[in-house]
Amino acid sequence: MGMLDHWHPVLPGHALRRKPHGIQLAGRLICLFRTADGNAAAIDDACPHRRLKLSYGRVVGDRVECKYHGWTFNGCGEGESPSTPKMHTCTESYDVREAHGYVWVKSRASGAVFPELNTDNYFHLGNFLHTVPAPLELTVDNFTEIEHSGTVHDTFGYDLPRMHEVKVSFEQTDDSVTVRNVGPTKILNPFFRWLLGIRRNDLFHDHWTTYFSPVYSVYDHWWTSPDGDREAMVRWRLYMFFWPVDEKRTNVTSFVYAKSRYPGPAGGLRLAKHLFRREVDREVRQDIAMLEHMADHNPNIDGMKLSRFDKVLGLTRERIARIYRGEPVGRRNVA
Ligand code: FES
Ligand SMILES: [Fe+2]
Repeated sequence: MGMLDHWHPVLPGHALRRKPHGIQLAGRLICLFRTADGNAAAIDDACPHRRLKLSYGRVVGDRVECKYHGWTFNGCGEGESPSTPKMHTCTESYDVREAHGYVWVKSRASGAVFPELNTDNYFHLGNFLHTVPAPLELTVDNFTEIEHSGTVHDTFGYDLPRMHEVKVSFEQTDDSVTVRNVGPTKILNPFFRWLLGIRRNDLFHDHWTTYFSPVYSVYDHWWTSPDGDREAMVRWRLYMFFWPVDEKRTNVTSFVYAKSRYPGPAGGLRLAKHLFRREVDREVRQDIAMLEHMADHNPNIDGMKLSRFDKVLGLTRERIARIYRGEPVGRRNVA
């Protein structure tokens, strides 16, 4: 399998209206559009005639019309030319699905399984699409390691002076990597501490599992008392999908959920939604700032001095190469 063979959440459904919309996935330009009956479709975003972007054109009925010479293409990529009606032309088309508020695409050729989001009893806080100016591997490194939470983050993580107390463990299967962290929470601002019901010496638990078809992690964040008997009022679950725009940029599509023990509908999360959304957005931007300031964007880990938190880097690299990129065994970058 290659990168395009996996399902990717590439665009919020509400952003796809009457006009075609161009995106880039793993270096491929793809034109998304809605046919007259409202279904989303995806074809290559380069007209086979003289390669104008089809997303620069318009939708007419069930077809995209190229703005240059008026050739049109349906959702299967079958083209017609007004000037040469007998000519046969065709462009690549993709499987499309709409779920969780996003338009997802993959190649027609693959039978990749659609990733299931387990969000039972969780309240949906919102979705985000962030662009990171770094290759896929370096982006995944950041989002699957907790040591940086001591300096980079304000809410989710551990304090730098007590980072040595944090216990980290790893578990791997052939196609997944799980990381579990537990340790004294960082000191949140007093308002969040009060709202979430966190006390000063509580433990922060941060568990996640990363999968590789496509590349995504599911995170659970929660706090307990040191003896584990009392849990704070809100627990979070985030699904983050990492997909390369090209070799230098990675998009992160996040689906953010929380569960509250407060009484009332959705445990008051409807009221707190705006605040919590803003917090997640801010935390992701803090990660992006780190990836913007790397001295080197070479994804190779050879020569890095890795810590006890970084074992995950080699585990994810091997699976990204083998499962996501579909690289032959000999080319794998195994740590
Ligand atoms: S380039 Fe598209 S119709 Fe000519
Ligand atoms: Fe982070």
